[in-house]
Amino acid sequence: MSMNLGPLFEPFELHNLKLRNRVAMAPMTRNFSPGGVPGENVEAYYRRRAEAGVGLIITEGTTVNHPAANGYPNVPAFHGADALQGWKNVVDAVHEAGGTIFPQLWHVGAVRKEGTPPDPSVPGYSPSGLFAPGKPSGKAMTKDDIDDVVTAFADAAQDAKALGFDGVEIHGAHGYLLDQFLWEGTNQREDEYGGSLQNRLRFVVEIVEAVRHRVGPDFPIMLRFSQWKQQDYDAKLVNSPEELEAFLKPLAEAGVDIFHASTRRFWEPEFEGSDLNLAGWTQKLTGKPTMSVGSVGLTEDFISGTFASKQEAVEKAGIDELVARMTNHEFELIAVGRALLQDPEWLTKVKEGRLNEVESFAKKSLAELY
Ligand SMILES: Cc1cc2nc3c(=O)[nH]c(=O)nc-3n(C[C@H](O)[C@H](O)[C@H](O)COP(=O)(O)O)c2cc1C
Repeated sequence: MSMNLGPLFEPFELHNLKLRNRVAMAPMTRNFSPGGVPGENVEAYYRRRAEAGVGLIITEGTTVNHPAANGYPNVPAFHGADALQGWKNVVDAVHEAGGTIFPQLWHVGAVRKEGTPPDPSVPGYSPSGLFAPGKPSGKAMTKDDIDDVVTAFADAAQDAKALGFDGVEIHGAHGYLLDQFLWEGTNQREDEYGGSLQNRLRFVVEIVEAVRHRVGPDFPIMLRFSQWKQQDYDAKLVNSPEELEAFLKPLAEAGVDIFHASTRRFWEPEFEGSDLNLAGWTQKLTGKPTMSVGSVGLTEDFISGTFASKQEAVEKAGIDELVARMTNHEFELIAVGRALLQDPEWLTKVKEGRLNEVESFAKKSLAELY
């Protein structure tokens, strides 16, 4: 069956960035980098998706150079000669295959537990020593700690540019460190980094400004943010378009080029009275190109629990719905996670109308890197 794929396969340009299409691989932690060093298996994994036509690869979260940045085993670091050489090999492989690639720069904050590599004695760091509201964990950051992390993000972005990456994504979502500052539930500071929205934004704004200062005006900076947190899927940073605008404006002014509004289902309206999703509202309010994400390409079986029937699932959550939203310029870019993790050829199959050959996402695929 041939489909109208509308703008999905149109090129996208921003400054020096040229994407061959508007489909990105979403950042997905894979835990296959022992000692923090991405090796040949990681290189082959990303090369395979680039060879199969993915426009932009956003790497798995990779940790900035701070002792408490990492939260999980075998996550790749973004510092140290061996890890950076590993990433250089990944960049070259993706470029050879005609793709583009951003690293996702990450600090997990209070999600880190003592015992985690690289130094097991280091606790989690966070704005107020809280993993979630009412759940103390780790250390509340001092002003010096804040400055160290800001510098670590700037260093990582500078390294990304030097290695040949095409831009960077700053991970400000899902209840990790940056989001812990943004979220009232985990930020109870009484200094200039806590309290009002302006104050809660300050840490992320400082990171974006520091990154911008290091990489210059033309190197793309993408910021990923979300309402949902791993600590609370129903949490909200903002409750109305007006609040969203107040949240986004300082970030855009600090130097964000592309917003990546992370939602779990791309078809869900963000606020009452409009069909626009979070990315749609973000693009409308900032005028900046925005990336959406959430359950694209998952099979009807997977999502039909959300709908009354399979038919309704196809109509509301299928590729046609995505294409319709992109044709309306609700958002310019779309990230695809699990469908591409499962099936490296997913995009080629969509393009060629071979949807019957797409492999359905299965959790057991997380155990392998291919
Ligand atoms: C195995 C796995 C690992 C993930 N790791 C990250 C990550 O490192 N950084 C991040 O921002 N999101 C991460 N996510 C979220 C994805 O980027 C994406 O937003 C989510 O899977 C929804 O997209 P999908 O429905 O297309 O999979 C992860 C998701 C999965 C399934």
